[in-house]
Amino acid sequence: MYNGASHDNEIDLDKIEIAAEPPIEEPARQYHFMARCQEWVRAFEQKKGRRPTACTQTFGCQMNAHDSEKLAGILRSAGFGEAGEEAADFLLFNTCTVRENANQRLYGRLGQAGARKKKDPERMIAVCGCMMQEAEEVAKIKASYPFVDLVFGTHNIYRLAELLYQCLNSRRMVVEVWEDTDQVVEDLPSERKYPFKSGVNIMFGCNNFCSYCIVPYVRGRERSRDPEEIIREIQGLVADGVVEVMLLGQNVNSYGKTLAHPISFAQLLEQVEKIPGLERIRFMTSHPKDLSDELIHVMARSKKICPHLHLPLQSGSSKVLERMNRRYTKERYLELAFKIKEAIPQISLTTDIIVGFPGETEEDFLETIDVIEQVGFDSAFTFIYSKRTGTPAASMEDQVPPDVVKDRFDRLLKVVQASGSKNSGRQLGQTEKVLVEEINDHDPTLMTGRLSNNTIVHFPGDPSLIGKIVHVHLDAFKGFYYMGSLM
Ligand code: SAH
Ligand code: SF4
Ligand code: F3S
Repeated sequence: MYNGASHDNEIDLDKIEIAAEPPIEEPARQYHFMARCQEWVRAFEQKKGRRPTACTQTFGCQMNAHDSEKLAGILRSAGFGEAGEEAADFLLFNTCTVRENANQRLYGRLGQAGARKKKDPERMIAVCGCMMQEAEEVAKIKASYPFVDLVFGTHNIYRLAELLYQCLNSRRMVVEVWEDTDQVVEDLPSERKYPFKSGVNIMFGCNNFCSYCIVPYVRGRERSRDPEEIIREIQGLVADGVVEVMLLGQNVNSYGKTLAHPISFAQLLEQVEKIPGLERIRFMTSHPKDLSDELIHVMARSKKICPHLHLPLQSGSSKVLERMNRRYTKERYLELAFKIKEAIPQISLTTDIIVGFPGETEEDFLETIDVIEQVGFDSAFTFIYSKRTGTPAASMEDQVPPDVVKDRFDRLLKVVQASGSKNSGRQLGQTEKVLVEEINDHDPTLMTGRLSNNTIVHFPGDPSLIGKIVHVHLDAFKGFYYMGSLM
């Protein structure tokens, strides 16, 4: 649901001459097409006595979710109202392909959307995002889901207005997927999910080519945004009520290396820290191989950077790490984790782990367990290795049998849970700052917020607190969240 504020540019679509040739330069061209779509929206409204509605559904990571906010912003600017998945006139699926189950979920939901469209053929269905960067998935949609109106990828999401306009004027499936891009188009509208916090892209793509991972193939080569653009965007967000930003990139630690005037991620953080009115800075994701001492020092000194580091381990076995092309060893990871904990004692470390990578032996798996126990993560996302066509790991021999993987996965989960409840409850009894985010899902008398280290806290309060940073006493720890009381 788009219940948040908008960070919009002051471009008045009514002043755009839609009969004129569309401008070549971006983003002016897209504003032109938003104005043209708006004409269509008005005609729809005249005919049906209501505005057309849109719904954007996200399947993937935080970057994917942030892309969806941009897509929703374009649709809102074009005049669409909001609706849920079942009711929307225009339904857009923003897909993920990092693991096979993400793909399966899409096809299930697409089938349901197709059934609804059969009863109401004027509905429109679009599919975009990472999965659409794979030629065989686009071919599958063309062959088996011909009711889809629009397909586009990850590199051209900023062109939604133009693509939608093409769609409105064609009864055939519009498909536009680019292999890669070196363009970063700034200054398009965005519809934030939360008025008080926002993701901010600092870079796109990934050059790491971990051997199991599809992301570099579907998100393209690494490109960093100019620091001036990032700062300007955050200043605009703060002016619009944002107190917390999440800087987004597949590997933020390599930020800025390819810029004309290279700057480090730590230097970018120092600039962001200086923005008045901004209270909290988060970032995601850090690759252990590029995490610098400079970053640790900047974090340790900072008043705004949250003491939380998501540092994906993937495996604790140096042998497996090498075949994963992660470019660090078990020892190097441990050394790094201990160094961070020493410099920033209140840090919350979280991680990602893959079990069942090709050739993973019981000994390798036990090395992973060993690292989890030594580091003491607050939480960990655990994944069963999923074979992605086109990645080097997909053609590796000795894929691990599913029953062995399942057994390791269950054992891993137990260790991760034990580590989480041992480590993430350490602030029990203290009074801490909490950014209040929403009304509790299960009990409307409770509010839900987050500590600076990202741990969730529920406490009795009222919705007027949403978006504020308040002091909460942490009364009880419940395994992975706290119950507290407002001070
Ligand atoms: N750029 C981030 C991660 C992006 S994908 C990083 O390097 O940490 C998020 C997580 O999905 C990864 O950390 C990894 O644990 C998991 N993942 C990626 N590809 C996978 C695959 N083929 N099978 C299972 N898990 C995978
Ligand atoms: Fe995938 Fe590795 Fe890039 Fe992360 S760093 S997105 S895991 S290739
Ligand atoms: Fe998925 Fe694409 Fe993110 S594959 S994890 S949505 S970058």
